[in-house]
Amino acid sequence: MLVSAKEMLTKAKAGKYAVGQFNINNLEWTKSILLTAQELNSPVILGVSEGAGKYMCGYKTIVGMVNGMLEELNITVPVALHLDHGSYEGAKACIEAGFSSIMFDGSHYPIEENVAKTKELVAVCNEKGLSIEAEVGSIGGEEDGVVGAGECANPDECKMIADLGVTMLAAGIGNIHGKYPENWAGLSFDTLAAVQEKTGEMPLVLHGGTGIPADMIKKAISLGVSKINVNTECQLAFQEATRKYIEEGKDLQGKGFDPRKLLAPGAEAIKATVKEKMELFGSVGKA
Ligand code: 13P
Repeated sequence: MLVSAKEMLTKAKAGKYAVGQFNINNLEWTKSILLTAQELNSPVILGVSEGAGKYMCGYKTIVGMVNGMLEELNITVPVALHLDHGSYEGAKACIEAGFSSIMFDGSHYPIEENVAKTKELVAVCNEKGLSIEAEVGSIGGEEDGVVGAGECANPDECKMIADLGVTMLAAGIGNIHGKYPENWAGLSFDTLAAVQEKTGEMPLVLHGGTGIPADMIKKAISLGVSKINVNTECQLAFQEATRKYIEEGKDLQGKGFDPRKLLAPGAEAIKATVKEKMELFGSVGKA
């Protein structure tokens, strides 16, 4: 059964580790992530962007697929199905479809509007027992066509949003989605420390987990980050393994064209990436 992310993140914050949010794109992705979480006895959050939601034939299809896998694969570790960077309408649609967690990203609105909309969705999520993530300070890079610049959040605005009763808060600290450019300045730990001081026990979320060096990840966790989002890194691992399979001509040998064979190296590569991240984040054995 899907669970809200509240308990797993409260435990993570207290235990000084982070739970990974891995974004899903299709059946292979979902299966690889769930099997790895189970094997490592780790809690996990499956992230779904609105674009990936459309690609996978809508939120109801995804809820059906994930619930089916939890049962058929005997997944017993805590799993939350979470909308990533949701719009107000998207959040409502996911609540309706059976997600167990949502993110409302109002970071592009003026703070008053972000507060008003977040507040409304907090009430709905509380009533239904869902967890809710809010965002302050837009996260750079490109996601679903929206480009941000890697802002650093204002700690006072973070407190305003945290006080609305959200479950977790994403605060921009110079992080961006996708690959980091050569001249990236790194995470702003001063901002993170200031946000953590203002928001206390609130689990903080680090987006753009791809390509952040291990020492920065560890420092971020020590400063209150309890959820780390990873998307691009699984995509790159899948791409590299699939490319290798085809370049080696394996799709031309025997029944190598069978999608179950063609997609297998990519699926294994996703498993290896998820394992590496769970070990780095410290969530192994914490289910
Ligand atoms: P990356 O694609 O950089 O790993 O970021 C994922 C993310 O933050 C999803 O919200």
